[in-house]
Amino acid sequence: MPKRQRYLWVCTNERPAEHPSGSCARSGSRELLATLKKAANARGLSESVRVCGSTCLDLCWVGNAVAVQPDNVFYGHVTEKDVPEIVEALVQGTLVERLLVPPELFDDPVGKKKS
Ligand code: FES
Repeated sequence: MPKRQRYLWVCTNERPAEHPSGSCARSGSRELLATLKKAANARGLSESVRVCGSTCLDLCWVGNAVAVQPDNVFYGHVTEKDVPEIVEALVQGTLVERLLVPPELFDDPVGKKKS
């Protein structure tokens, strides 16, 4: 398989329901991963974009979290409703600005980070 232009990493980490940090899997990230992968491939992006599952991206407080590499940007609070816009941005070579995690939110603003 070719080296892709972009890799999207969808956090599929799961923690116990009572864990204070929560987890993306408990917010539907596994379904999000499947939908995003299917939509990207349906748009003919399989040769240029790879959609993968990942462990915790350390952005649990804005999950579902998705990393877009090599752009080094992160989307937060992503749902399946956002998939068409994300795929269109991949086609256009742009980003979905409204989903970008701002720099100030990389430091666990609610103090829930435990592991
Ligand atoms: S559990 Fe998804 S970013 Fe931590």
